[in-house]
Parts: sequence; C-alpha cells; structure tokens
Amino acid sequence: MMLSVRNLGVSYGRIAAVRDVSIDVARGEIVALIGPNGAGKSTLLKAIAGLQPIERGSIDFDSAAIANQRPAEVMRRGLALVLEGRSTLKQMTVRENLVLGAYARHDHAEIARDLDQMLTRFPILRERLKQRAGTLSGGEQQMLVIARALMSRPRLLMLDEPSLGLAPLITAKIFELVQALKAEGDVTVLLVEQNANQALHIADRAYVLENGEVVLQGADLADDPRIQEAYLGV
Ligand SMILES: Nc1ncnc2c1ncn2[C@@H]1O[C@H](COP(=O)(O)OP(=O)(O)OP(=O)(O)O)[C@@H](O)[C@H]1O
Ligand SMILES: [Mg+2]
Repeated sequence: MMLSVRNLGVSYGRIAAVRDVSIDVARGEIVALIGPNGAGKSTLLKAIAGLQPIERGSIDFDSAAIANQRPAEVMRRGLALVLEGRSTLKQMTVRENLVLGAYARHDHAEIARDLDQMLTRFPILRERLKQRAGTLSGGEQQMLVIARALMSRPRLLMLDEPSLGLAPLITAKIFELVQALKAEGDVTVLLVEQNANQALHIADRAYVLENGEVVLQGADLADDPRIQEAYLGV
C-alpha cells in the first residue's frame, strides 16, 4: 500500500473528530472519501498531511511512518494536500503561486518545464499568469490550487472538496482532470467530495465516513442501496 492509516484518532480538545479510522490507498488508485458535514473528512486529510496532531494510531506512506511529522517533511516525501476553500495567496500572481508550489524542489530546469506543462494543462492560468490570484474566479482559483499542489510533484494528491460551490461545467472539468492524472499514471488521488455521485463514478474504491468512523467501504458503493438512499438521492 502507498498509504496505510491504522486506528487513527484525532480530537479537538474533547471533541473526537476522527475515531479509530483505518484506510488504505494503493499506488495508481483514485480513492473517494464521502460522508456528511462534520464526519471528520477534512480532519483525516489534515492529520495525514501533518497539519493536525494525531492522538492514536499510525500513518504509513511508502512504508515510512509519517504520523505527527511536520507538514514540510510529509510534503517532501511526496504527499500533497489541497485544502478546502481554495486558499490561494491572493496578493500574489498566478505565476508566483505556481512557483511557490515547487519551493521544496531544487531542480530549476525541471521546475520551469513543469510550470510550462501546467500552463498547457490549464490554459486559463497561462492567460492569467501575471494577474493576482485573488482576482480569479472560484473555478480558476480551484485550478490554481490544484496546479500549485502538482508543482511539488506529489505521488499522492489529496483533494478536499474541489467541486464545492462550483458550476457543473467547472466541476466536470475538475473530475476530468483527476481522471487524466490517473490515466497518465504517476499520481495517486485521495478525494474528499460532497458530490458523491461523481466521486463514486470516477473512484476505484470509496470509504464512507460518519461521526468520525468508517461505516462502509468498497468498490461498488454506487450500487449499494444504503448509499443510494443517503447520498445519491435514489
Ligand atoms: N479547529 C477545530 N476546532 C474544534 N472542532 C473542530 C475543528 N475543526 C473541525 N472540528 C470539528 O470536528 C468535526 C469534524 O470536522 P471536519 O471538518 O473534519 O468534518 P468534514 O467531514 O470535513 O465536514 P464538511 O463536509 O463540513 O467539510 C466536526 O464536529 C467539527 O465541528
Ligand atoms: Mg471538510
């Protein structure tokens, strides 16, 4: 397994946000994590990325224990998290935001090449290169934060609700991008989504988190009557 989370417990003071969660992500997979508001999805991703201290359990990434390591160290190992809410550096330009994504790298020629590739992948960002990130639309900012994360050359990309609040056309583009990343073969994706229908459609496997616990998991959750009733409105 590329990522193995075992019996993870994360609390905010006395609030247990994640209780005894175990999940796996294999190289090359798209794994979806769905569940209602407050289920602990973002907390789980933050704990994996080293942004939230864990109380119990273990997190192994490429066989190395990464629980409670500093976020920069986790990132250096090839794991990137795109947080909920598209936090671009609003006063900086699109270009500066993208270059920042590669700050831990020292292969300058490769960084320039990746930047150019990113702008080919996201033509809208090329058009907006010198514009301040804060002036971009919501969809453009989402593209930017994903592109910025990709500039670190992650092997595992974790996305927290990338489609939240975006129009269906932009949402479809983001899901297409995730599928393209998988098809190209070098990025594995752990995707948190409200949009259960589309997430389950592109995912190889999924976990359902409720009240800080995994209540269902599998490869065919879209066919599961419990999921259809609770999440797909069938
Ligand atoms: N910084 C914090 N301080 C205290 N409690 C928090 C904090 N962040 C989250 N929580 C609580 O932890 C629980 C899990 O929150 P989390 O944000 O992980 O849920 P989520 O599944 O991502 O929800 P959503 O779908 O709304 O984004 C919630 O009860 C929430 O109120
Ligand atoms: Mg969340």
